[in-house]
Amino acid sequence: MIIVTGATGQLGRDVVERLLARVPADRIGVSVRNPEKADALRARGVRVRRGDFTDPASLAHAFEGVEQLLLVSTDTTGAPAVSAHRAAIDAAVAAGARRVVYTSHMGVNPDSPFVPMPDHAATEQALQESGIACTSLRNGFYAASAVMMLGNALETGRLVAPEDGPVSWTAHADLAEAAAIVLADAGRFEGPTPALTGERALDLADVAALASRLTGRRIERVVVGDEEFRDALVAQGAPEHQADLLLGLHRASRKGEFAAVDPTLGSLLGHAPTPLEDVLRAAVGQEAPPVR
Ligand SMILES: NC(=O)c1ccc[n+]([C@@H]2O[C@H](COP(=O)([O-])OP(=O)(O)OC[C@H]3O[C@@H](n4cnc5c(N)ncnc54)[C@H](OP(=O)(O)O)[C@@H]3O)[C@@H](O)[C@H]2O)c1
Repeated sequence: MIIVTGATGQLGRDVVERLLARVPADRIGVSVRNPEKADALRARGVRVRRGDFTDPASLAHAFEGVEQLLLVSTDTTGAPAVSAHRAAIDAAVAAGARRVVYTSHMGVNPDSPFVPMPDHAATEQALQESGIACTSLRNGFYAASAVMMLGNALETGRLVAPEDGPVSWTAHADLAEAAAIVLADAGRFEGPTPALTGERALDLADVAALASRLTGRRIERVVVGDEEFRDALVAQGAPEHQADLLLGLHRASRKGEFAAVDPTLGSLLGHAPTPLEDVLRAAVGQEAPPVR
């Protein structure tokens, strides 16, 4: 059985949809914190069990019969994230899994100023140390994050952020499809994949220019100092750790940590990855993303 964690989250839910197109439903299970949120999957024949990374007993039950586990990284950061991922890896090994596929990141790096990157590095290391066959999907930076960074610039006409760098923005849908392909073909990739990215790396000035073109309204890219940016976020009510996280992201992007462009995602999908422009257009125009 292929078991997917995080299946009530954006990426995991989409992976399950795409697995259902490839694998019989009775070979798919989900491990989720709130099973009632997965009722629609249960109705389609997917096994739904409660699994919380902070509750190892729940994982033992949720992972019963697992052959492959898709471990979707949690939305926490730092030590809680790494210990959550370790708990899932330990439970997969104990349940007799053949392989763990993990949603890592293209910028995985123990020394990155962007906290999730050292978390991914520690998790990849834990996977190696577990001895289980594993694939780390080095996912590109979510294009949805570019939409988030645009934020209220659509109203104010000013995209305010510290100095940044180019990012090879990648659509959730493409990463979900790639994960489903890799799970359905158990021999695909051993260890880390190459970076799974879109075809172009664009910085925030490019994002502002794209958004200007799509909305017909001028959006200016305004560069501010690191401390000014952080202080403004905190003054607007952001928790300090959130402000540090966002500042770390820009520090990492300016060092080029998310700039690589690699053809592997397009090869896996059999078509060009979704450009950032399509994701932005769907976000600013409220239309559905294009079907690929
Ligand atoms: N590649 C990138 O650029 C990028 C950017 C941002 C994030 N990420 C990573 O990619 C992951 C998936 O992205 P997404 O968009 O699907 O995020 P998401 O919608 O926030 O999904 C995160 C999932 O993690 C689950 N989760 C959190 N804590 C858990 C726990 N203790 N036990 C079990 N499950 C737990 C959540 O469960 P519930 O559904 O119950 O809340 C949710 O389903 C994120 O969590 C993050 O690690 C990557």
